[in-house]
Amino acid sequence: MKHIGVIGCGTMGLGIAQVAASNNHSVFIYDSFPSAIDKARINLNKTLQTLFDKEKISKEKWDQIIANITWCIDLNEFKNCEFVIEAIVENFSIKKTVFENLSQIVSDTCIIASNTSSLSITSLASCVKNPKRFIGVHFFNPAPVMPLVEIIPGIQTEENSLTLSKQLIASWKKEIVVAKDTPGFIVNRIARPYYGEAIRIYEENLASKEYIDQTMKKLGGFKMGPFELMDFIGHDVNYAVTESVWTAFYFEPKYKPSLSQKRLVEAAYLGRKSGRGFYNYEDVGHESKDIELDLEKSTMIFERIICMLIHEAADALYLEIASKEDIETAMCKGVNYPKGLLHWADEIGIEKCVSILNYYYNLYHEERYRCSAILQMMAKSKITFFNHNVSVCL
Ligand SMILES: NC(=O)c1ccc[n+]([C@@H]2O[C@H](COP(=O)([O-])OP(=O)(O)OC[C@H]3O[C@@H](n4cnc5c(N)ncnc54)[C@H](O)[C@@H]3O)[C@@H](O)[C@H]2O)c1
Repeated sequence: MKHIGVIGCGTMGLGIAQVAASNNHSVFIYDSFPSAIDKARINLNKTLQTLFDKEKISKEKWDQIIANITWCIDLNEFKNCEFVIEAIVENFSIKKTVFENLSQIVSDTCIIASNTSSLSITSLASCVKNPKRFIGVHFFNPAPVMPLVEIIPGIQTEENSLTLSKQLIASWKKEIVVAKDTPGFIVNRIARPYYGEAIRIYEENLASKEYIDQTMKKLGGFKMGPFELMDFIGHDVNYAVTESVWTAFYFEPKYKPSLSQKRLVEAAYLGRKSGRGFYNYEDVGHESKDIELDLEKSTMIFERIICMLIHEAADALYLEIASKEDIETAMCKGVNYPKGLLHWADEIGIEKCVSILNYYYNLYHEERYRCSAILQMMAKSKITFFNHNVSVCL
């Protein structure tokens, strides 16, 4: 495939266009707002300048990337594209109109992909002529840097569209995982307890945010604690993802958003980008304060959060959202977890994970802590994720 179309030249669209242009595709990028195109051109040049200054690209490569990109103010310029990725605002009806228009322009065999984080691929596929060629390709921010891409076939997507999409994205040197079309796909679903359980511990006043952050870094080896990470992602984005996963799962209690985070959004304390979130970034050095951790207390915090994460990963496997290997790759490459959660489960011991989850279920009597069938059956049969064939216990 030579001609690639990208719709939307905001954060994700521009990043994806840069990736495709760096891999020698002829890229057509369209945005309905001319000011967004002007801004994107400036941003791309800034990015390439930085890469050049750091000696990551040559002047020739810089020129080649720029020459490979055609900035479009008319979607009709996409008529020869063989693969189009949509990365516009996360709004179903706006995306629907764009897909309906695009369907009239490109050939019936052109693959149409969406970078949506939260909308159903199946519902978006229904907006195009020939939904068999529609697929989800979910890049992570920043797209040129993050190695992971989740590929999500809708129920209408035919095998050939999946194969061609995998081939194309792999040729861009990305790590591919395939996910079932369910809310949050793999990463945004499995990662929820890292934020939600940490906030819950904090709201219950069992530990401070600093204490929880340092626990997860020191005991778990995570690069950022949950509160630092939420501040980094931005509470508007992180809260919106939690709320959308919760709503899309028919208000499943384990994904319930928190009032603490909602209040931050209401106050426009969005995290690093606004100077204040859970932490105040004007207060220099707040993160470096080292806290002496009490082993019993920090172990309790670590085990509670990690078991909720393991539970989510195990459930995703049980519900066939993705393969064992893809679940591990997704969490290590999409959110930089220090190791895969299913390997972590084997290391901690499945029986121990089950007993920790049951402890919280008995304590709170809340659905949030009910233990997945897969973990219970594995504990009973004394099998692990990687030394046994898990399906034998199901
Ligand atoms: N930002 C992230 O971290 C991230 C990560 C993965 C996926 N996504 C998804 O990628 C998509 C884009 O997100 P973003 O963060 O790049 O948004 P953004 O706001 O940075 O960019 C959206 C762009 O779409 C343009 N646009 C709006 N309506 C349009 C239309 N009708 N036709 C053409 N262009 C239009 C806007 O002018 C803007 O330039 C969303 O679906 C989002 O869920 C975002």
